[in-house]
Amino acid sequence: MIGAAQDWLEARVPFDDAARQQSLPLLDRAAKALLDTDPSGQSRLTIVDLGAGTGKSAAWFREHLTPRLPGRTIQWLLVDAHEPSLEIATQHVGEADTIVTRLSELPTALGEHLPEHPAPGTLLLTCSAVLDVLTQDDVDAILTTLDTYQGLGLFLLSITADWHLTPPDPRDEWLAQAFADHQRWDGKLGADGGHVMLRTARERGVLRPAATVPGS
Ligand SMILES: C[S@@+](CC[C@H](N)C(=O)[O-])C[C@H]1O[C@@H](n2cnc3c(N)ncnc32)[C@H](O)[C@@H]1O
Repeated sequence: MIGAAQDWLEARVPFDDAARQQSLPLLDRAAKALLDTDPSGQSRLTIVDLGAGTGKSAAWFREHLTPRLPGRTIQWLLVDAHEPSLEIATQHVGEADTIVTRLSELPTALGEHLPEHPAPGTLLLTCSAVLDVLTQDDVDAILTTLDTYQGLGLFLLSITADWHLTPPDPRDEWLAQAFADHQRWDGKLGADGGHVMLRTARERGVLRPAATVPGS
């Protein structure tokens, strides 16, 4: 199954936004890297939100990245395999183009929207609340895209195995196991998603020093 329930994505917004605030230093570093790589700022920058859903994460990225990239012309692309979600997303992120595709097809799908040889520092891939629902094929395709287009990746908010509910409840362990099983359904990486992305990027040499995964 692809696509998250819209009311669930809506209910998450204040909590996701609060958690993403902790990532602002990473946005600073990403923006600086992009500005340093293309100091003239003449080339159009393309920012692609992967697994964009109904556009909540892209709206947050746009609010916080735009002032960090003054004077840059930014093209926003929202990618998701669930077309109904992307139709809603365009209401939240005006002037964004959408691409309906599985992330395992990302290099081909993006190829239709990017120049064959974009200048370094002109592509940023973002995502939020997505790594844990990916497969190894999706991870490989994302890293191939970064490698091919000399892009930068900024991947926030992914569930790990060490989460706890407050207040504790005797059913928490059962719930955690059911959630973990659900996350791993159909070959998805679940709580290992962030670590697999980091490890695969290291193995392929597609890594910048800013890369971090809590606990690694
Ligand atoms: C938890 S939602 C996050 C949505 C959005 N990033 C946010 O923060 O509100 C995960 C999204 O990833 C999409 N998704 C999951 N696996 C995918 C895949 N392999 N290819 C494309 N989209 C995928 C789902 O359709 C869903 O919209």
